[in-house]
Amino acid sequence: MTARHPHASRADAAMPPGAPAIGVRIAGCGSAVPDTRLTNADFERMLDTSDEWIVQRTGIRERRRCDPAKGENSRTLSTLALRRALENARIDAGELDGVIVGTVTPEMLCPSNSCRVAAAVGAGTAAAFDISAACCGFVYGLNIANALIRSGSMRTVGVVGCDHMTSVMDYTDRRVSILFGDAAGAAVLRATDDTSRGVVAHAMHADATGWADLYLPRSKADFPPGETPTDEKLNRLQMNGQAVFKFAVKTFGDLIQRTLDSAGLKAEDVDHYICHQSNARILEASRERFGLPEEKLYVNIQNYGNTSAGSVGLCLDELWRAGRVREGQLALFVAFGGGLTWSSSLWRI
Ligand code: ACO
Repeated sequence: MTARHPHASRADAAMPPGAPAIGVRIAGCGSAVPDTRLTNADFERMLDTSDEWIVQRTGIRERRRCDPAKGENSRTLSTLALRRALENARIDAGELDGVIVGTVTPEMLCPSNSCRVAAAVGAGTAAAFDISAACCGFVYGLNIANALIRSGSMRTVGVVGCDHMTSVMDYTDRRVSILFGDAAGAAVLRATDDTSRGVVAHAMHADATGWADLYLPRSKADFPPGETPTDEKLNRLQMNGQAVFKFAVKTFGDLIQRTLDSAGLKAEDVDHYICHQSNARILEASRERFGLPEEKLYVNIQNYGNTSAGSVGLCLDELWRAGRVREGQLALFVAFGGGLTWSSSLWRI
């Protein structure tokens, strides 16, 4: 994998002083996961693997899986998550000005999931678009929605992150299939007169020199040089786990540090680190680097695996419903994923 040196740039930014006359608040959260569970014991029956290997290397014990017979997919999960977030916010769907869905597993490419999610929740003719930023979809979405609201373009925006990863797994590939599950997380963001609230610093990056470490080929022409295209690999996630692991450990830590620097904060100033759940070891490395107490870095990968764009919003919703995320606190959202992409969003709640 090409060496990559995440750098500070215009994509790392503290909000310019005095610019926003509008604040942004998280008005409500929601999430949705399918009922069907896929446990490590299930994988022991399907593949040459063990519960012990999976738990030690990843921290995962089970994941959720959409049931196509019930019509479950990324569109239905996203709809449910956003509906729950609207109920939680006590905001009528008709007040949404925009619906943003981060996903790399949409039901169809056209129409986007977001168009149908907006229609299903009753958002009228609100703007709707999907973001294809892999696991960064939700965090990119938070930053974009914050900017749209602060600019005065919109007042209320629904942001959803959702992936139906089990639909793109090769269940004969033990290196990849044990990692992923299905989930959606959503937040309703709304303008507020309190200008201290909303994003206080953020970063949004991509570097395609590492694209071949994580990709979803749709045709044989999509494979990188050196890979043998086969029909079995089409529409199945291909991953160089070790390369992604190294990238993730370095990027996560550097991204957190630069975002804190942009905001002039120290690691201990942040109340919640709400991070993409890709591997418990990657999260633990960041927790150790910054000396964070366990309660500040939320981990639920044991229950859901890596749910790609779904994971950060799902963590937020679990924390939110537990009453742990409170007005005035600082929450740092962080993700990395295919592209390769990486992004942060530091919020004054
Ligand atoms: N069960 C048993 N053995 C396994 C399994 C398994 N499920 N998978 C791999 N192995 C074996 C390998 O074949 C290898 O055996 P060998 O030494 O005989 O060849 C051995 O275990 C070690 O394999 P590694 O790939 O070196 O294992 P590693 O410790 O790197 O863990 C893992 C693999 C968990 C995939 C890790 O690399 C990882 O988490 N990478 C990051 C993945 C990630 O975050 N991806 C998504 C990010 S972006 C997004 O979310 C879309």
